[in-house]
Amino acid sequence: MDRLRIGLIGWGTVGSAAGELIADGPLPLTVACIAVRNPERPGLPKGIPVVAPEEALTADVVVELAGGLEGPRSWARAALDRGVPYVTANKALLGSASVGGGTPMIETTQHMAATGSIARIRGVVNATTTYILSAMGRGESYDDALSEAQAAGYAEADPSFDVDGHDAAQKLAILASVAWGRWRPEADVTARGIVEQPVAPGTIVRLVADATPDELTVGPRILDPLDPLSVTEGVESMLELAMRDGSTVRVSGPGAGGPVTAGAVYADLARLVNGERPILFSRG
Ligand code: HSE
Repeated sequence: MDRLRIGLIGWGTVGSAAGELIADGPLPLTVACIAVRNPERPGLPKGIPVVAPEEALTADVVVELAGGLEGPRSWARAALDRGVPYVTANKALLGSASVGGGTPMIETTQHMAATGSIARIRGVVNATTTYILSAMGRGESYDDALSEAQAAGYAEADPSFDVDGHDAAQKLAILASVAWGRWRPEADVTARGIVEQPVAPGTIVRLVADATPDELTVGPRILDPLDPLSVTEGVESMLELAMRDGSTVRVSGPGAGGPVTAGAVYADLARLVNGERPILFSRG
């Protein structure tokens, strides 16, 4: 089988981890070119052409891990108009790697949605705030915990995106769209973040994303220690799908970080190599 030529846009925490996996992993893939905002940046691999993003769109598949909205939106449109698959972890757009990092949350929701019987989604889906709130529960200060989450590569480039609840709201909007089969924008989510949120010793506070077909919310909640979501700790994320028959499905695992998110991107590439073209929901 001919190797699929990947046009990789972005060489940050996730982009570089994905580039290494694409180059060294078992799938028939090759990194044809890399596009970055600053071509002079140190650490770019030698021997792979560094190009403008528009040029990366001529590859067989585009993998965009640059973040932001305006550039990615036009690149995605241009690539898809030409029939070039576009794989991304960009929550502002979409992609399996965009929710859950190393935990297959979109795939699990899609699987359970096939029966049309998801009643409610509840989850702890933002690793940065879980990291901060669990550290504060152990007596650390908000600022120290945020710095650690940034140093570990979990926080967004602008961490206000995490702590103000936008990241969780976008993830919930994507999951709700998949669960109930129609596009839900972030604007449908009533969100509150964790800035100024007190965490009394002995209490478990988490940023909880919660949705029914009628109401989507994100906000800090005090959790009962018997609530399964309360075991989330550090970078561990969890999604709970309550089904109409009263059963519950849960998935949990690492929700952020370069290598695990690169793994989710790679899993999407494996589906492409196998000829899958998943349609998660319609815009209607
Ligand atoms: N900033 C995100 C988080 C990264 O903390 O969960 C993964 O989407």
